[in-house]
Amino acid sequence: MDGFIKTLPKVELHLHIEGTLEPELMFELALRNKIQLPYQNVEQVRQAYEFDDLQSFLELYYQGAQVLQTERDFYDLTWAYLQRCKMDHVVHTEIFFDPQTHTARGISFDSIINGITRALQHGREQLEISSHLIMCFLRHLSEQDAIETLQQALPYKDQIIGVGLDSSEQGHPPAKFRHVFEQARELGFLTVAHAGEEGPASNIWDGINILHIARIDHGVRCAEDGSLVRLLAKTRIPLTVCPLSNVKLKVFPTMAEHNVVKLLREGLCVTINSDDPAYFGGYMTDNYLAVAHALNASKLEMAQFSKNAIEASFLDARQKAELQ
Ligand code: HPA
Ligand code: ZN
Repeated sequence: MDGFIKTLPKVELHLHIEGTLEPELMFELALRNKIQLPYQNVEQVRQAYEFDDLQSFLELYYQGAQVLQTERDFYDLTWAYLQRCKMDHVVHTEIFFDPQTHTARGISFDSIINGITRALQHGREQLEISSHLIMCFLRHLSEQDAIETLQQALPYKDQIIGVGLDSSEQGHPPAKFRHVFEQARELGFLTVAHAGEEGPASNIWDGINILHIARIDHGVRCAEDGSLVRLLAKTRIPLTVCPLSNVKLKVFPTMAEHNVVKLLREGLCVTINSDDPAYFGGYMTDNYLAVAHALNASKLEMAQFSKNAIEASFLDARQKAELQ
């Protein structure tokens, strides 16, 4: 099984590029940019990665992102992630970035997007990894702030396939972002949103009915609503599930209690993804292995996760056919 999973061609659909910042690179960038970190060494950083919930993770994740200052930093971050993709046989990846985390600190939109897209282009040319970029709005900030971010992104519209919604789900439901998602759709962006990670199944309904999302990021709490599970099975609206993340952030107490294989067997278009691999202790292969070992999935089922991800991707029909 392990060898089968390692070489299985994979497609990643839920990955925050800021969440790929490994402690070693964090220190390198802190040194380069003369930023003082609240840690003495790499081991101390890793020891700090014990989380009680989403919020306790987000605090360290936003703190870590402060070392990202220049276009070169965003390039180095993205290039390191793509090299990990190559090792894990990831052939296509759709990555999130959080511009507000950086523009709020005075970093230009230009530096962020040029650094990331230059690395993605090199990934296509040198590693044969195709990719799309999705811009996320931070849901703890206002809708007005998201609208201004959408405006800032317009000169780079060709580089961004869709918009998403991340950060603290509790207290910030999808309806808060109704207008900005409507504007984004009118401009031709595809839409996704984190929903049903820590928040209730009603956030998944609202993501579908109010934000018209093409995919649900996480979505594991759909299991609390039988009619929603039936709708997801029937429509095959995809779920981008992140197993190691869910255990680290205590959405499930252990991997053995995770519902990803159960949802697969119920006919949902569930996929396996790494979310913030530098913080949650594993990239794509690690997530696939953790699921296979804890949940007794067959090789056929593990391959189905990868097939689902091709189906759920924003590639066109011809590109999907090439990967099948
Ligand atoms: N949930 C919400 N916001 C996030 C996450 C997540 O899993 N990762 C990075 N930002
Ligand atoms: Zn996420």
